[in-house]
Amino acid sequence: MTYSRIIGTGSYLPDNVVSNQDLEKFVDTSDQWIQERTGIKQRHIASDGETTCDLAERAARNAMEAAGKGPKDIDLIVLATTTPDQVFPSTACLLQSRLDIHGCAAFDVQAVCTGFIYALGVADNFIRSGSARCALVIGAETFSRILNWEDRTTCVLFGDGAGAVVLEASDEPGILSTHLHADGDYANMLEVPDGVSKGYDRMRANAAFVEMRGAEVFKMAVNTLGRIVDETLEKNRLQKSDVDWLIPHQANIRIIHATARKLHMPMERVVVTVAEHGNTSAASVPLAFDTAVRDGRIQRGETLLMEAFGGGFTWGSVLARY
Ligand code: ACO
Repeated sequence: MTYSRIIGTGSYLPDNVVSNQDLEKFVDTSDQWIQERTGIKQRHIASDGETTCDLAERAARNAMEAAGKGPKDIDLIVLATTTPDQVFPSTACLLQSRLDIHGCAAFDVQAVCTGFIYALGVADNFIRSGSARCALVIGAETFSRILNWEDRTTCVLFGDGAGAVVLEASDEPGILSTHLHADGDYANMLEVPDGVSKGYDRMRANAAFVEMRGAEVFKMAVNTLGRIVDETLEKNRLQKSDVDWLIPHQANIRIIHATARKLHMPMERVVVTVAEHGNTSAASVPLAFDTAVRDGRIQRGETLLMEAFGGGFTWGSVLARY
């Protein structure tokens, strides 16, 4: 039986840090409100001209270095983003060229905040079916580009960044299971209502922005993530106590606390980066993952539960032995 194993992680954050106090200067908000409601203290924002592919490239190079892999080793690139550089080619193809990788399949996956979980699920299936041996999986966003900086209910929540992993075929697990879900009936609770084929004028005027019914999204996220924890453990016949680390999507510390409670997980075993990164959408899980690998918290052989919830609605989880 072939499994996929995570053999290297990497991440990258833009240099420009915007604190809650910085936001207070031009939005009707306060550091206290943002911290109490979300746990966010600051976020990194890409500079003018810095693109999703730029962030993805830095994260991918870090992950490939950690994995000890070069361009010739990679035979699949799956990149999750909601904020691609261009309509086409895909950001995965742009990245492929930057990394001097040629010929292998490269494509983007769009599942908003669940994007990285989807990308990991897709790459895991490619490897387990024998269609790929060594995959580069990235979550990268310049989410700041689709924020209305006059809408205090959304602009304080998000940030930019990228995270990546290298997956390799292995006789030993590896990724134990992936669980991907969506329900498009909830599309208008969290959306950018404009795009190329609809509302193009607003797109061209750089006025296509995130709109969110925050309180409803919050409730759905808490309930749905609770269910995905049960589904993941049942599928693997594991107990809550068998999970060493929870690596959640970093949207809101209160949602993270609720999922940790569901798992009976002390917060010391939950990777939390939301205070420093904000919600970086598809980049949030791999950014948190890489942070805890590089600071030595996550060790080889430990069992990791990654989960996310986002626009679509989409939601999913990955259970992996690191
Ligand atoms: N600063 C100050 N006050 C604010 C701000 C702000 N930035 N934003 C909203 N408020 C006000 C509101 O206007 C409201 O005032 P009112 O009572 O006078 O009407 C009050 O604060 C409470 O607003 P709520 O929306 O009820 O606040 P809530 O406690 O629900 O927190 C939040 C809002 C943080 C957005 C929360 O609902 C949340 O985290 N939702 C989920 C976000 C999420 O997880 N998204 C999913 C992933 S994102 C993706 O997929 C792209």
